[in-house]
Amino acid sequence: MIIAKSEEFTNPLVEAAQIIRKGGLVVFPTETVYGLGANALDAKAALKIFKAKKRPVNNPLIVHIAEKKDIKKIVASVPAMAQKLIDKFWPGPLTIIFKKKEIIPNEVTAGLETVAVRLPNHALARAFIREAGVPIAAPSANLSGRPSSTEASHAKKDLGKKPIFILDGGRSKFGVESTIINILENPPVILRQGAVTREALQKVLGQVAVLNSKNSKIISPGTRYRHYAPRTKLALIGSSWQASPKEIELTIIKYHLKNKKVGVLGTRENYHFYKKADRVLLLGSQKNLPTCAVNLYKSFRDFDRFGDVDLILAEIFPEKELGAVIMDRLRRAAENYSC
Ligand code: TXA
Ligand code: MG
Repeated sequence: MIIAKSEEFTNPLVEAAQIIRKGGLVVFPTETVYGLGANALDAKAALKIFKAKKRPVNNPLIVHIAEKKDIKKIVASVPAMAQKLIDKFWPGPLTIIFKKKEIIPNEVTAGLETVAVRLPNHALARAFIREAGVPIAAPSANLSGRPSSTEASHAKKDLGKKPIFILDGGRSKFGVESTIINILENPPVILRQGAVTREALQKVLGQVAVLNSKNSKIISPGTRYRHYAPRTKLALIGSSWQASPKEIELTIIKYHLKNKKVGVLGTRENYHFYKKADRVLLLGSQKNLPTCAVNLYKSFRDFDRFGDVDLILAEIFPEKELGAVIMDRLRRAAENYSC
């Protein structure tokens, strides 16, 4: 059978894989957020990622694999504790730090001796990596500092000034990034909270530390930068999650007196407190934290797109399970700003 040349790439996966093998970039979906991928074994290709996202080159990339067995090709050893996590959480939104093998270029790990590895739980992501035949280095598919992309259109808006190949897998399932854990430390340290909760990790590992600004001696390069932020100023309001809605209500009045337009990012249960706000975006119900997480970055982007408020007041969430992850992202978005 002769296949006409114009039909050569009727399968987007085949085309995406070919772009990767030629040293190019591909945006692809995962269960957390969209990734901007390149061949993780090709230093030159990896450097294109930093340029496309305007990412500082000292911020290392996560390497994505399609099968558990592929880990052996890129890491020096798999400690027992890591194996436990792999058995329990892979494929899934957990990134584990390992000692790297030579085959992973320094450009990917920003000169570190370690490499962050993840096996996504997403059929299209895994089919793409398999088809490419190489591990895929990929940060989130957004401009550096912006909220991660949870829809293909977000990646196109941030990165699409130059033509870029996008595999569209619809909306991301989790909407927040993978959890990153360093098991080379004792006790293990969560370098970034994410879709696998601290509580879930504690069940498997016992004691687990969480990196925060107070113990920032332990380095996770990416945590040095302001992150995940809307362009519109955002402030977290309230002394506790119970007090938050009432304090937001009072803050709206205060800002209106200064002729400022105020948006609120809150939960459905507290909507009645926000009647005076100029725009309210609801993340969902407090009883459904996964939905709140999924809507978080899209809401940041929506506030920017509408562009009609001077300030976003965000409600406080209880600091456990996914609530702790939402709070982590809100705090980073609110950094350098208080009201
Ligand atoms: O869910 C996710 O993790 C998404 C999807 C696409 O997989 N990826 C993602 O990548 O969020 P990125 O680059 O936006 O965030 C990766 C974080 C950065 O903060 C980086 O500093 C940290 O991982 N990281 C990467 N390699 C590391 C290493 N060897 N040691 C410590 N931190 C590392
Ligand atoms: Mg990112």
